[in-house]
Amino acid sequence: MRTAAFPSFAPLTEPAEADVAVVGAGIAGLSAARELARAGLSVIVLEADRPACGVTGHTTGKLSALHSTVYATLREKRGPDAARDYADSQSAALRHVFEVADALGVECELESRPALTYCLDPEGVGALRAEADAAREAGLEASFVTETGLPFPVAGAVRVEDQAQFHPLKYLRGLVDDLLAHGARIHGGTRVVALDAGSPHRLTTQTQVTVAARHVVVATHHPVFDHALLSTRLTQHRDLVVAGPLSVDRDPEGMYITAEGGKRSVRTAPLADGRRLLIVTGESFTPGSGGDTEEAWARLEKWTRQHFPAVELSQRWAAQDNSATDTVPLIGRLPAAGDEVYVATGFAGWGMTGGVMAGSLLASLVAGTPQRWAGLYDPGRVGPAVRSAPAFLKAQWETGRHFVKDRLDTLGEGSNGSVRDLPPGEGTVVRNGGKPCAVHRDDRGALHAVSAVCTHLGCLVAFNNAERTWECPCHGSRFGVDGDVLQGPALSPLERVDPDTL
Ligand code: FES
Repeated sequence: MRTAAFPSFAPLTEPAEADVAVVGAGIAGLSAARELARAGLSVIVLEADRPACGVTGHTTGKLSALHSTVYATLREKRGPDAARDYADSQSAALRHVFEVADALGVECELESRPALTYCLDPEGVGALRAEADAAREAGLEASFVTETGLPFPVAGAVRVEDQAQFHPLKYLRGLVDDLLAHGARIHGGTRVVALDAGSPHRLTTQTQVTVAARHVVVATHHPVFDHALLSTRLTQHRDLVVAGPLSVDRDPEGMYITAEGGKRSVRTAPLADGRRLLIVTGESFTPGSGGDTEEAWARLEKWTRQHFPAVELSQRWAAQDNSATDTVPLIGRLPAAGDEVYVATGFAGWGMTGGVMAGSLLASLVAGTPQRWAGLYDPGRVGPAVRSAPAFLKAQWETGRHFVKDRLDTLGEGSNGSVRDLPPGEGTVVRNGGKPCAVHRDDRGALHAVSAVCTHLGCLVAFNNAERTWECPCHGSRFGVDGDVLQGPALSPLERVDPDTL
C-alpha cells in the first residue's frame, strides 16, 4: 500500500439503481464487477472503507493453484473430479490475470515463479509425495523435489511450475480504470448495513441511502449478510508478515509455504532500486485469542533474520483470512438470501487466485451459464459440509466457548484494580457496573473505553497489543480503540463508555 497509489472514491449520498450491486471492493468484488460490467450490466460497487485496501491490500500477492496440500485432501474427500475442477479453476484464474494485465497494459510486477509447499520434518515427506501425486493427477505440472532455492535444507517439497506473483493494487488499479470506462460506479466509505430481498433487492447504507439492484454480490471477506449461517462453516486466522530488502543474489526465486505446523511463507518482490523485497508470513492465530501479538511478531522476525541474515527488515503488517471448514471456498448463490444474491468467501489465504476465480464464476452464475466447477464451490453444498462435521463442530464449540466462558470468567471491576495499573499501549477487559468494558490506555496515558460486547453476535472482544485493536474471537470482527469497525462481519461500532465511570 506504500508502493502503489490507489484512488479514493466518494461515498454514495443519493439513492441508486443498478443491475448488479457489489458489496465489498477487494479483489473478489472488483473482479466480479469487471466481468459483469463487461457483460453489459450496470454495476455499482459499495465499499465500507477504501477500495482494495482491506484484506486485499495486506496480502502477500501470490497467484498459485498449489494451495498447501489441498489436492490430496480433495481427492480423498470429494474425489478426483473435484480435485481436477479445483486445479482447472485456479489455473484459469492465473491465466486470466496474465490476459487482463496484457489486454489493459497494466504494469503490476507480474512474474512467473514456481510455487513450492515444503516440509522440514522427514515425517512430512509422505504427505508431500501424496500431494505431488494428487496435484499431478489433477492436471498440474507438479513434482516432488528435495532441492529448493531456500537457504536451508528441506526434507521435501511439492513444486509446481509457472505459477505467479504480482502487485495486487497495481493490478486492481488497472481493473478499476477499466470498470469506470465501462460505466460502473464505485463508492468508498459506504457501509451497507441491510439487505432486503425482493425484486429488486434493496440495500441500505449506514447513512440510510438505498440501492435497488436485481443482483447482489456479497464480497466482504466474512459475509456481512449471512442468512444461511455461513459463519458457522468459517474459521478466522490472522497472519503476521515481515518484509525488507534483500540483495538479488539471495533471492530464493520461488514462492514457498510450509505444510507443517509453525507456518512460514516466503517470497520476494521487485524493488525500484534493483533489490528484492523479502516477504515472510507466519505466526498465525485466531483474532481475539488474547495472545501477545508483539511476541509473535518477534518470533517471526527472529526466524527471518536467522534464515536470511542479509535482510534489512523494514516493514511489518498483518492480514486476516478465513477458511471454510471443508477447505473449499464458498462461492455462488447465498443460500436463504433470496434469488440472485451471491457470496464469495473462505479463500483460506489463497484469495488472490481465488478472488479472480470468484469473479469469473459469479459472472457466469449471473449470466445463467455456470462454469463447470460451480458445484465444487457452491455455498449450499451439503455433503462436503457434513463430511467436515468434526471441523464444523470444533468451530461451533470454539464460538460457544468464547460466548459462554468469556462471560463466566471473573473479570475484575474496573474501578481501582487492573485499569489503574494498565500500562500505556495495553488493553484489558473489566466489569463496569456489571457490564464487560474494553479499556485501552494510549501512549499519552489517556484511557479509551468501549463496550467489550461485539456488535455482531455478542462475544467478548480481546486486545491485540501490536495492532492496538479489539478483536472478536467468534467471527473475526475487528474494532479500533474507540470502537470503530475496522473489519466485519460486525456492522456497528462498539458502544463508547465514559472512562470517568471506570
Ligand atoms: Fe461474530 Fe463478534 S464477530 S460475535
